[in-house]
Amino acid sequence: MDTIVINGGNKLHGKVRISGAKNAAVAILPAALMSTGKISLSNLPDINDVRTLIAILENLGVGIRRRGRNAVELKPARLRGYSPPYELVKKMRASYYLMGSLLARFGRAEVPIPGGCDLGPRPIDQHLKGFAALGVDIEIEHGLIKLKVANKMRGAHIYLDVVSVGATINLMLAAAAAEGRTVLENAAKEPEIVDVANFLNAMGASIKGAGTDVIRIDGVSQFGSAEHIVIPDRIEAGTFMMAAAATGGEVVVEEVIPKHLEAVTAKLREMGAAVAVEPERIWVKRTGKLLPSDLKTFPYPGFPTDLQPLSMALLTAAEGTSIITENVFDGRFRHVDELKRMGAQIKVEGRTAVVEGGLPLSAAPVTATDLRAGAALVVAGLMAEGETVVSEAEHIDRGYEQFEEKLRGLGASIKRVRSRSGIMVRKPY
Ligand code: UD1
Repeated sequence: MDTIVINGGNKLHGKVRISGAKNAAVAILPAALMSTGKISLSNLPDINDVRTLIAILENLGVGIRRRGRNAVELKPARLRGYSPPYELVKKMRASYYLMGSLLARFGRAEVPIPGGCDLGPRPIDQHLKGFAALGVDIEIEHGLIKLKVANKMRGAHIYLDVVSVGATINLMLAAAAAEGRTVLENAAKEPEIVDVANFLNAMGASIKGAGTDVIRIDGVSQFGSAEHIVIPDRIEAGTFMMAAAATGGEVVVEEVIPKHLEAVTAKLREMGAAVAVEPERIWVKRTGKLLPSDLKTFPYPGFPTDLQPLSMALLTAAEGTSIITENVFDGRFRHVDELKRMGAQIKVEGRTAVVEGGLPLSAAPVTATDLRAGAALVVAGLMAEGETVVSEAEHIDRGYEQFEEKLRGLGASIKRVRSRSGIMVRKPY
């Protein structure tokens, strides 16, 4: 596993261009399978989850032509099958979207139970309940989810018991090809859902209401060619905004949709950072002290759970007590023990973490337990004096394009050390 070595203490300064949204891209790529035409995608983030999905599409028979780092052309007209390989599927959670898209294409799918970040128990019962309502037979055996439609999927009225991004998108994918109308109630409202709906509509689907909690889908029988530009990654943008505030620097995140970041902007202002919003850029600066703040994660438009670990790293620098409540996932505090190694004073009680901030973090060897926890530890490393070594850096590569390069561009002293056979080889800065 690679490690990231950070010499902390530098304030971040400068501009950073934000990449395409991971959580939109990882749904749009499987959705492309539904087309019998030609698909052109741009602003795709160059991250491992996208590479894995492209490899899965290739394995299923999609013709693929890369167009530089961030664009790809796909020809899914002739596919080999509906069973993506376990070795690739296990690498990422979002491979569950292959269920919805393969069902739409073939009325069949055999998908291994997906992997991805360990954020405690992450059931997919709402996905399966929705598929069943559309008339899909479901069998789970030997770690494989086998989905089959006797005749054709039929539109249905589906009420989601929990607000789920994954279930909302997966059911949109399947229902887009079902006969008749599907109404999804209590749907998630994340911007990535709107982006996927826009892409599906560009291929010929008829989806209305994405971005609200009621989505109406009128099924169609064929999907054609489409071009699509993936929206900017609000979580990557939020990461750099928090890193700016955490280091007492001044950073402009560029090519973002500020509306998607309102919860983050409001929180940073509450913590004492100056934030200026322009049409496609957000400027963040902190000169004074960070103020403690209470923070609760919620589905969009609430504060995103994916930025909870980063906000925790940031709040270790705020003088006073902050209370962070994680409402979306049960087990999303695994970064706490790692932050404590760096001297953070944090107590966890159920879904709540109490951060006693104000003492400087000290550099330490730590482990990235998942994607966003890894990013939070890197930001903590930027805040701490001395050398922090973050191991298992591959977690970060699943979701951040050129993370170290972008941070170096802002003045961070950060380096990747590639390790062969588990032995870490140090290189000079
Ligand atoms: C997606 C995002 C992830 C983000 C999360 C919440 C992708 C690829 N990942 O994950 O980055 O942190 O949304 O914003 O887009 N749940 C059930 N049953 C289900 C589905 C979900 O109980 O069938 C629960 C989950 O355990 C969790 C909550 O609902 O407690 C929200 O999960 P969900 O929105 O589905 O998250 P993901 O789609 O896995």
